[in-house]
Amino acid sequence: MAGFPTTRLRRLRYNSTLRDMLAGVELRREELIAPLFVREGKNQQRPIASMPGQNQFSVDTALETVKRWKNKGLRAVLLFGVVEKKDEFGSRAFSPDAPVQRLTAEIKAGLPEMLVIADTCLCEYTSHGHCGVVKPVGPDAMDVDNDETLALLARTAVSQARAGADLVAPSAMMDGQVGAIRQALDQAGLHRTGILSYAVKFASSLYGPFREAAESPPQFGDRRSYQMDYRSPAQALAEARADVEEGADILMVKPALTYLDVIAEIRRAFDLPLAAYHVSGEYAQIKAAAANGWLDEQAVVLETTSAVKRAGADLIITYFAENLAEWLG
Ligand code: PBG
Ligand code: ZN
Repeated sequence: MAGFPTTRLRRLRYNSTLRDMLAGVELRREELIAPLFVREGKNQQRPIASMPGQNQFSVDTALETVKRWKNKGLRAVLLFGVVEKKDEFGSRAFSPDAPVQRLTAEIKAGLPEMLVIADTCLCEYTSHGHCGVVKPVGPDAMDVDNDETLALLARTAVSQARAGADLVAPSAMMDGQVGAIRQALDQAGLHRTGILSYAVKFASSLYGPFREAAESPPQFGDRRSYQMDYRSPAQALAEARADVEEGADILMVKPALTYLDVIAEIRRAFDLPLAAYHVSGEYAQIKAAAANGWLDEQAVVLETTSAVKRAGADLIITYFAENLAEWLG
């Protein structure tokens, strides 16, 4: 029987060429999706305090940024809108001249090969910061009304697709949102527009910096009546299955690092492409430690994103996309 000292596993690790030859997980710039926050106004670039290196842009400066990203080898952006006029229904989410729609049209006109993904949700547009329409559900309790929200999400997706979005990415976690959006897109003749579904999205404390960036924190309560409970992993399969049945083209798990088990499980259970979202809080943790000199940023980001791929993600949404494009290039 072979065993030590006949077997020596280190023989595969002595030579760096052999190590490279055996590297089974390789990140490619083509697999990265860069999130971008676009607001109203002109010539704006406002740093986001809790996400060092990230900014809110106006449409003009956003377009310059996307050009720079493209020159570095990035291929896809995920757009979030920041607006001044908010209302109960988040109606700015579906106005043709809102920041996301305008930037989408500009990117498609100037950089047509850049893939534009529009985040489809209402929380950045509602006065109360929830992802849908709020209704009383008791004497002094309010909650998001699922079915009334569907029509608004569908309208938002159609408006984003008309502006030129290649994919819409519903993130509100309403039951039936993928089906409602698919039906509305098809009725509008937009059958080429795909749906990247935030199928498995957990109610996570790692979204804090994003809510500062998108100016979208809920003004009361939290999102636990619609986003998933991290103690109940079995619901992940049910959520993904529902979205597959409703017509999702790509699935997503979010956040990434704290849910690698879920990424691996969804990878095995479904044959659709899978994205993972390395979220704002995950970004902030690395940035804070690196700023203190406690971690080597580049090494940690490469190890972290490799872990997300190894778990089974085909695509990675990450605020480190521009850095990764440089490091991988
Ligand atoms: C909004 C949305 C959120 C994120 C993406 N879309 C925040 C939330 O659900 O409150 C989080 C992304 C991140 O933290 O980077 N539906
Ligand atoms: Zn939302």
